[in-house]
Amino acid sequence: MTESIVSMQGIGKRFAAVKALDGVTFDVPKGSLVSICGENGAGKSTLMKILSGVITDYDGTLSVDGQAVRFSGTRDAEHAGISIIHQELNLVEQLSVAANVFLGREKRSAWLMRDDRSMLEEAGRLLKELECNVPASALAGSLRVGDQQLVEIAKALSLNSRILVMDEPTSALTESEVERLYRVIAKLRERGTTILYISHKMEEVFHLSNQIVVLRDGRFIAQLDTEKTNPQEVTRLMVGRELESIELGERTAQGKKLLAVEKLSLAWPGHARGFRLKDISFDLHEGEVLGIAGLMGAGRTELLECLFGASVLAPTGRIVLEGKEIRPSHPAEALEAGMALVTEDRKRLGIFTAMNVGKNISLCELVSMRSGPAVSNRKEQIASNSMVDKLLIKTAGLQAAITSLSGGNQQKCIIGRWLLTKPKILLLDDPTRGVDVGAKAELYRIIRQLCNEGLGVIVTSSELPEVLTLSDRIMVLSEGRQTALFSRQEATQEKILEAATRGFFTGS
Ligand SMILES: Nc1ncnc2c1ncn2[C@@H]1O[C@H](COP(=O)(O)OP(=O)(O)OP(=O)(O)O)[C@@H](O)[C@H]1O
Ligand SMILES: [Mg+2]
Repeated sequence: MTESIVSMQGIGKRFAAVKALDGVTFDVPKGSLVSICGENGAGKSTLMKILSGVITDYDGTLSVDGQAVRFSGTRDAEHAGISIIHQELNLVEQLSVAANVFLGREKRSAWLMRDDRSMLEEAGRLLKELECNVPASALAGSLRVGDQQLVEIAKALSLNSRILVMDEPTSALTESEVERLYRVIAKLRERGTTILYISHKMEEVFHLSNQIVVLRDGRFIAQLDTEKTNPQEVTRLMVGRELESIELGERTAQGKKLLAVEKLSLAWPGHARGFRLKDISFDLHEGEVLGIAGLMGAGRTELLECLFGASVLAPTGRIVLEGKEIRPSHPAEALEAGMALVTEDRKRLGIFTAMNVGKNISLCELVSMRSGPAVSNRKEQIASNSMVDKLLIKTAGLQAAITSLSGGNQQKCIIGRWLLTKPKILLLDDPTRGVDVGAKAELYRIIRQLCNEGLGVIVTSSELPEVLTLSDRIMVLSEGRQTALFSRQEATQEKILEAATRGFFTGS
């Protein structure tokens, strides 16, 4: 038997009426990578916050190296060698990368002066080790999410952490960033670092971990050797029942043409290619789901942003909505025209942390809920509640702080917000990121139902099976060009991948 480095004994945690954790007991073998799996709201993040000293008020006993410990804060946990990289990253955006790495532990020179130079050097060295090519003097807020995350890992390295907690680290990463993270994880493991890893992606869990711990409704369900189990079993344990395969059923005939896009192009000044998008043409009918597939950098997000008036530059070409040409130069105009966009970056663009759950959902529809000069509270409540029900959002109520919701449930609030605007066309940019399997199936059903009511949907996803499940037609982009348009019957993973990797000089 391997020695255990962390031991949880009957860990419990309550948030007012919500029992987030209940008697969770298991051991983490030294040097292992243990994945923590469970549905949205199962208690994964809460448990890891306890382990890393973020949450200090809980029941039960936590032991590290066989010693019972009680951390009074993250600093305590860091002393014991435990660091956490949060689901929603935690850098101070206005400070430099180096300052973030050494935050609260600034290096001092002989005269107790802050030693910026040695911090810059040390941070630079750590970043290089992590294949991160940003200068240590750059502002943390100016970095891409993938790089921000590496800064957090650099911080953990500088602390010589023996135990690293990663909460959904790949949920905001592009494919090449994910590969880089995998390499970093492999390096950490060679050094003997123990890793606790939260993820909703089975592929990832099975690729990385030796063991899988399953939580459900705050309770410990199972601890399995990855070699001796399979994704179906883990999923079944997570949801507590057999998940019927996602069968969306018959669909109604498509209606009239909603949208026509003709030769849409978006310039890319200063880049060798010269464009982000080139001559994209397609149409969309009432009741239709158009999937957009492509590798990272193919232009999926850019395409949706152009349609929604949210691109940095104005695109060229024509966008015709219900027979009328539109040129949205701002999201408000696109919204007015009947479009809604669920973006991929929840923290930056989606959630308003100062508002409660109800307000976060009703935000975009407040205008239509006016009765007289004031917004009708009752109408607002009914509207928000309808989305909580429809999307099965797990919350203590509309008054609850949005930050008290688990990550996946926050995502559902954003989707609910846009559904409330009753759009004609719903643009979904990787909508199920961080959403668990059960909720995903629910969301697919909702999308199908909305289509049957006449909505047109354009969806991108980083997961090919999702595009295949949802779409009536699939457009494939490669390096900003359209390389294929498949019907549902024609489309296969192989064909899509082939079109997504086609260099444009050999393509059609
Ligand atoms: N600060 C808080 N105040 C109130 N309730 C909270 C707070 N933090 C978490 N909860 C509740 O505790 C439960 C567990 O949440 P947690 O964030 O641990 O879930 P999770 O398993 O990480 O889910 P996800 O996969 O969606 O990230 C949820 O019901 C959540 O709403
Ligand atoms: Mg979480």
